[in-house]
Amino acid sequence: MRIGVLTGGGDCPGLNAVIRAVVRKGVHQYGHSFVGFRDGWRGPLENKTQTLGVPEVRGILPRGGTILGSSRTNPVKVDGGIERIRKNLADLGIDALIAIGGEDTLGVATRLHEDGIAVVGVPKTIDNDLGATDYTFGFDTAVNIAVEAIDRLHTTAESHHRALVVEVMGRHAGWIALHAGMAGGANLILIPEVPFDIGRVCTLIESRFQSHYAPIVVVSEGAVPKEGTMELVSGEKDDFGHVRLGGIGDRVAKEIETRTGAESRAVVLGHVQRGGTPTAFDRWLATRFGLHAIDAIHDKDFGKMVALRGTDIVRVPLDAATRELKLVDPSLYSEAEVFFG
Ligand code: F6P
Repeated sequence: MRIGVLTGGGDCPGLNAVIRAVVRKGVHQYGHSFVGFRDGWRGPLENKTQTLGVPEVRGILPRGGTILGSSRTNPVKVDGGIERIRKNLADLGIDALIAIGGEDTLGVATRLHEDGIAVVGVPKTIDNDLGATDYTFGFDTAVNIAVEAIDRLHTTAESHHRALVVEVMGRHAGWIALHAGMAGGANLILIPEVPFDIGRVCTLIESRFQSHYAPIVVVSEGAVPKEGTMELVSGEKDDFGHVRLGGIGDRVAKEIETRTGAESRAVVLGHVQRGGTPTAFDRWLATRFGLHAIDAIHDKDFGKMVALRGTDIVRVPLDAATRELKLVDPSLYSEAEVFFG
């Protein structure tokens, strides 16, 4: 078979490990050949391809980013986009596609599958919020980067008797904030699933200062204040209708300073969490996803996505990836509350 591979959406440490596993097993075990599509769905839409064989995947396992490039291009929103993809795939003699991406990329893959295109999905997001899989690769790397930052911020916060607010990624779900906050010994964690009361935040900050320690607050970029406790932030919607609040870390830091009089600073980790070499766990998970994705293609089991369930890799319907987001359960969040203040 001749198989197209693409990576779509925000990049994520571990993407290259998936590509490497797909190509190595596909070539050596099954005798398939590959075509790399550039920049997510823009590749098959605009016929942007690159050579993809065993030599091209040599040495990429520890590399961050994606050798195929990525974009948030959505062909469903392009006039005649799906038909163009169908034609380009036929012209290139592509028998099947492997789409590696998050909610939006896999949403397009689902649509193509419904239109009769042979496609298998691999889930990816540092946010770890895809419902159908226990973990996504990239998440562990992002958490480790955030923890390293928090460890460093503890010492500078203490030296200056400041409150430090660390904003981490997580538009809809607080997984990165919760895991990094617990692992980094944060004194407060704010996540989108549990709207926060800024008055309570400030009380906890004051009690932390009273015990002579400088507080560290970890906040998800998508965290929201309880209505009426703080002026609500008006969010802009991106191309996919996701609300981007922006600047919540800074706003919380400013509120702390105004309300408590304690000096406060915000640190936005942003895309640092998505860059660089993947952790061993992410390389392992991404590699297993790649191996199982090429098996699904070889079995002609299209319209499926690989997923982690416990320690097993299973195949689930592609649309399971977009059906529901996996959010932090408030009871899980409450486990961390014992460390607050
Ligand atoms: O979905 C992954 C994610 O990292 C979000 O946490 C974040 O809001 C977003 O991507 C940022 O994306 P962009 O690359 O468009 O800035």
